[in-house]
Amino acid sequence: MQYYHIKKKFKTAWQKKILRWYSKNKRNLPWRQKKNQHFYNIWISEIMLQQTTVKTVIPYYNKFIEKWPNLETFFEASLDEILIIWQGMGYYQRAKNLYLAKEILKEKKIKLNLIDLKKLPGIGDYVSSAICAILFDQNCTVIDSNIKKIVTRAFNLDKNKPNLEKNIKNIATELTPLRNNGSYCQALMDLANLVCTNKKPNCLACPVKNECKYEGNTELKTEKKLVKKKIGITYYIKFKDSVLLQRSGDRMLENLYCFPMTSFIDNNNELDEKKLLKQIGNNWQKINSITYKHVFSKFIKHTFSHFHLKLFIIEIKLNSKKEFANYEWVLTEDIVNKPSSVLMKKIQGEVFC
Ligand code: ADE
Repeated sequence: MQYYHIKKKFKTAWQKKILRWYSKNKRNLPWRQKKNQHFYNIWISEIMLQQTTVKTVIPYYNKFIEKWPNLETFFEASLDEILIIWQGMGYYQRAKNLYLAKEILKEKKIKLNLIDLKKLPGIGDYVSSAICAILFDQNCTVIDSNIKKIVTRAFNLDKNKPNLEKNIKNIATELTPLRNNGSYCQALMDLANLVCTNKKPNCLACPVKNECKYEGNTELKTEKKLVKKKIGITYYIKFKDSVLLQRSGDRMLENLYCFPMTSFIDNNNELDEKKLLKQIGNNWQKINSITYKHVFSKFIKHTFSHFHLKLFIIEIKLNSKKEFANYEWVLTEDIVNKPSSVLMKKIQGEVFC
C-alpha cells in the first residue's frame, strides 16, 4: 500500500473549502432538519440510503417517520408492517435487519458509539461511522461510494491497482476533519451528487478544483458487464377464493409474499428456453406432488440489480383443496395486506387483469 501523507496546508484548505461550499449548497433533505437530528432518524435514513438514491429514499423515509415518529413507537412495529412500508425499495434484508435491531434495542441499551452500534444487525462500518459523524461530529472516517469517487478522482488513483480500497481509506482518514465531520461527510455526499457527478462532472463549480488531480475521463473505460439472463416459473394456484402464497426465503425478496416460484436459472441461449423450463417445472411439480400440463405462454420480465428475469406464469385451478408443505392458502382479498415485492405486483397485474 502506498502511504499518503497529506500536508497540513493541503488538508486545511481541502476541509475549509468543502465546508464553505456545503454551507451554501447543502441539500435540504428531510433527515437533515433540526428536529430530525436523533439517532433514530439518522439510523433509518442511512440504512435506506445505503443502496438507494436520495430521490427514491425521500418518500419512503417520510412515510416511515409518519408511521413511527420515534424509536419508542417503532418498538411496536411488526416485521410485516415494516416490509409493507419498504415495498418497492428493494434490498429487503435491510427491513428485516431494522426489525431485528429494534427488537434488541427494546431489550437493552446499546451505547451509541462506533463499536457498539456495529453489534446491531444491518450496521457495519459505513452506517456506524455515518451515525457517529452526523450525530456527534466525531472524526470517524466515513466511506461510501460517493466519497470513494471523490478521493479516487482527486488523488488520481488507479482504479485497476489492487490496493485501491486501502489507499482510499488511508487518504479519506487523513482528510477527515477533527471538527465538523458531520457536515464534512455530508458535504462530500452532496458534492458527489451535484458537482462531481458520474457522467459529466462540473469541475469549474468544484470548491476543490485547485486541489484535485482529476484529468477528465482518462479512467479506463470499464467494459460494460454482460447482464445475466435468467428464467423461472411462478405458479398461480387457485382453489375457490384462495390462492397459494409463499413467504420468500430468498435474500433478494426476504420475507415478502409471492406466488410459489421455481428457482431462477441462467439462460443465455434462448433456444434452450422451453427445454429448461420443462426441466425446472417438472422438478417443482414432483417436489410438490402435483401434475399439471405446462403451457409456457404468459410471462413477465423483471430486472433485478444483477440479472434480467423472464418469469413464466402457470395458472392452475384446483377442484379440491390440497395442502402444500412450504406454502399457505390466502384469501384473494387478503393479498393486498401482505408485504410483497414489485415483481409480485407485476405478476398480480398479469393474472388479475
Ligand atoms: N447518502 C448516504 N447518506 C447520505 C446523507 N446523509 N445525505 C445525502 N446522501 C447520503
